[in-house]
Amino acid sequence: MVNIRNIEKSEIKQVAHLEDLCFPENERASLKTITDRVSQASELQLGLFAPTKHTTTLIGHLMATRTSSESVTVDSMSKHEPTGNNVAIHSLSIHPAHRSRGYAKQLIKELQFRCEKTVSPKPRIITLLAHKPLIHLYEETGFKLMGESACKFGGDTWYDMIYEL
Ligand SMILES: CC(C)(COP(=O)(O)OP(=O)(O)OC[C@H]1O[C@@H](n2cnc3c(N)ncnc32)[C@H](O)[C@@H]1OP(=O)(O)O)[C@@H](O)C(=O)NCCC(=O)NCCS
Repeated sequence: MVNIRNIEKSEIKQVAHLEDLCFPENERASLKTITDRVSQASELQLGLFAPTKHTTTLIGHLMATRTSSESVTVDSMSKHEPTGNNVAIHSLSIHPAHRSRGYAKQLIKELQFRCEKTVSPKPRIITLLAHKPLIHLYEETGFKLMGESACKFGGDTWYDMIYEL
């Protein structure tokens, strides 16, 4: 059985490795960005761990920061604003060998639960950028499609989606 908990500093290299596996070079977070997120906003960095013989292995992660923006901007990806009203999701990654088992949705629901119950101050919205084929995945977890984003991160077309808490 998998479990979800906050990512620890000692696990940053595993997160970077999973980013490399899951994203093309122009979309993945650098080791520095991951380190900053874990150091500055540890409560918003979730790891999904599967049991192995003697320990557990990271097979998925969700990384987010606080932001004052209503939508994800390139700036918000590398900057955590502790007093920002909102939470922005920047990465959702599941190891290719463990996909289509509902794990991405489990990570999103865990973030929603934590934002509702434990993250302080309680955020107003969770915002993210989606590629068109994944809009459905986020709608299934309660996100609303807001339209095409002004953000052209990595030279791509993205869609703004928000979840109201
Ligand atoms: C996108 C990703 C996180 C989904 O992980 P997952 O654990 O397989 O997702 P789930 O099992 O929770 O699937 C949820 C739904 O999304 C759909 N889905 C997943 N990946 C999809 C894709 N690439 N294209 C279209 N639909 C997709 C599934 O069909 C599923 O829908 P269903 O429940 O109606 O059948 C995973 O494929 C991944 O890591 N991709 C590379 C990184 C990425 O693109 N991340 C998202 C942007 S930050």
